[in-house]
Amino acid sequence: MTVRSTSSCSAMTRKRVAVLISGRGSNMAALIEAAKAPGYPAGIALVLSNIADAGGLETARKAGIETAVVDHKSFGKDRAAFDRAMHDVLLAHCIDLVCLAGFMRLLTPQFTALWSERMLNIHPALLPAFKGLDTHKRALEAKAKVHGATVHFVVPEMDAGPIIMQGVVAVRDDDTEAALAARVLKVEHTIYPAALKLVAEGRVSVVNGRCLIDGNAVPDAGSLIPAA
Ligand code: GAR
Repeated sequence: MTVRSTSSCSAMTRKRVAVLISGRGSNMAALIEAAKAPGYPAGIALVLSNIADAGGLETARKAGIETAVVDHKSFGKDRAAFDRAMHDVLLAHCIDLVCLAGFMRLLTPQFTALWSERMLNIHPALLPAFKGLDTHKRALEAKAKVHGATVHFVVPEMDAGPIIMQGVVAVRDDDTEAALAARVLKVEHTIYPAALKLVAEGRVSVVNGRCLIDGNAVPDAGSLIPAA
């Protein structure tokens, strides 16, 4: 994949973020909202979707955010060409950081390498548990006591990569998939803006596959569910 120059991009104090979506975009909306806060170190410069009628695109437009569509279907099975087209759009918008937010396409290793440690993903489970789809159903079936969401850097392997932040919810005995999903989604909307803030501030480093914050491992939060 050609890496084109971004020399026409002037250095900005706030990082320019592209949010990639395939659907309703509630995490995207949470990032847009968070970025409005004074002092937030990133701004949402672009919302990019592989689906022309993704619900989140309308939300983004209403919020005054620029949008773009790269329709994967027009590339057939050529994933590399689709990724190149996305990369070109990201470069054209002088993007510093990419946030996958319900972006349901597998990315090529070439693309993930170009955005290494500059591309985040949110997954609705406590990785490395429950990679893939139907995470809430599977957490209930596994009789898990805790469940949650993870923000991580993207690597070629799906739903893997250094973990930046996780948020936990207790699983209730009478939980339904919908109820659990709603509580996890609330957590997602908190941890994604918080994780992006840390990354945009340059406070996250990756050492031996683990994220350190300000050079430190995260202290033991000591949370037990149910509380002991
Ligand atoms: C979110 O729950 C996100 O964690 C999940 O898709 C949903 C998108 O919702 N992502 C994945 O499952 C990726 N492996 P949203 O469009 O309302 O943000």
